[in-house]
Amino acid sequence: MLTKILFCGLISLVLSEKVRYDNYTLYKIRPQNENHLSFLNALFESSNDYEFLNPPSLNYDYISLVSPPGLKNDLEHSLSKRSIHSEVILENIQEAFDAQLYSRRKRSIRQELFWTGFQTLEDINAWIQYMTETHPRVVSTVVAGKSYEGRNITGIKISRGSGRQAFVLEGGSIASDWVSPVILTYIANQLITGEDNEAKKASEDFDWYIFPILNPDGYEYTQDEVRLWRKNRAPTTGRNIGTDLTKNWNSHWGASGGSHTPSAANFVGLGPFSEPETRQFSDYLLNINQAMAGFLSFGSFGQKLVIPFAHTDDALYNFNDMVTIGRRAMGSLAVKYGTMYQVGNSRAVSDGSTGAIADWVKYRFNPPIAASFLLRDSGVPPAILPAREVLPSCEETFDALMAILREARFIDVL
Ligand SMILES: *[C@@H]1O[C@H](CO)[C@@H](O)[C@H](O)[C@H]1NC(C)=O
Ligand SMILES: *[C@@H]1O[C@H](CO)[C@@H](O)[C@H](O)[C@H]1NC(C)=O
Repeated sequence: MLTKILFCGLISLVLSEKVRYDNYTLYKIRPQNENHLSFLNALFESSNDYEFLNPPSLNYDYISLVSPPGLKNDLEHSLSKRSIHSEVILENIQEAFDAQLYSRRKRSIRQELFWTGFQTLEDINAWIQYMTETHPRVVSTVVAGKSYEGRNITGIKISRGSGRQAFVLEGGSIASDWVSPVILTYIANQLITGEDNEAKKASEDFDWYIFPILNPDGYEYTQDEVRLWRKNRAPTTGRNIGTDLTKNWNSHWGASGGSHTPSAANFVGLGPFSEPETRQFSDYLLNINQAMAGFLSFGSFGQKLVIPFAHTDDALYNFNDMVTIGRRAMGSLAVKYGTMYQVGNSRAVSDGSTGAIADWVKYRFNPPIAASFLLRDSGVPPAILPAREVLPSCEETFDALMAILREARFIDVL
């Protein structure tokens, strides 16, 4: 199992300032009933020692949890006492992280991006600048504001004329998710270069606003310090830092799914839009001043297309159409690599967390297309995704986007 997942011949880098995860173990835990779930939820809420890579929920086949070496025995004991099934996936996740860094180091030519590994914030911003300079009539650099630490929240706008509706793509809200930013630059590149006929048409039909990294401070922090950090980097109460930006939007904020404990990895924040990143991005969207045809959010993980809203099972707005479009599009996504997605509202397929960006956007602007991609999970969570799975993730997600446009036109939603 181990050798299947890990690369051979790992190159270890010396990164002394970083938090290392030597001998931290990745578990797959399969809760099967409400008792199992409430034990895991209590652990999730109370412990800063274990890292949950997805929230405890019976909608997931399993929960990915990372344990430090010193606490493995405790964990395994607690789980087996409650008959909760668990499995060791990686004995030492540091090895997987070292492999990711190695793949990133291979990139050498400045301004050029490759979609065969992960990308740094600096690479992405330089590439956006480069595309703006080399395609001045089509591409522009857009800035939605500044992060808490003062980094630009940079996006790329692709427009081939006036009078189009806006189509907005957002990623990189979860700091440890290095996959969605690569996927979004891949999609942007396809729309700009237009090598694929459908991409060319899509780039002519809408003005695209693509923000690969909404949480640049967190992204940097996962590269330089703590690989599994999830939140932004703004202080909240006491010595606590960070809010889960995926739960800070003003749509039934804090009602379910996230935590109100500031130290928790899924802390919803001190109020809706309490964070500079969410507040400014929401203002930016309000100021775009164009009708919005579509909004898609991309993040890790679980292979689910989540349709607004999380607070209710009612089919609000065009929920049923969106489910139809989503199901068909996820069929197209599966063609290349067989990756299967579930489609539904958050309560049905994910953890029912309110305060999500797509929910707020749907409620505020009602674009005919609105959904969140929870991306590929190939047995290991995306934070630990091997670099060789990056390009396939890009390709299949791009196929899904094209299929969403196609299916939406087919049933007259676009
Ligand atoms: C990890 O575990 C191995 C095997 O038990 C041990 O030899 C090694 O020293 C440990 N590494 C660290 C950094 O604790
Ligand atoms: C940040 O964005 C502003 C425009 O809003 C730009 O003038 C500035 O150069 C950008 N800073 C960096 C570091 O890219």
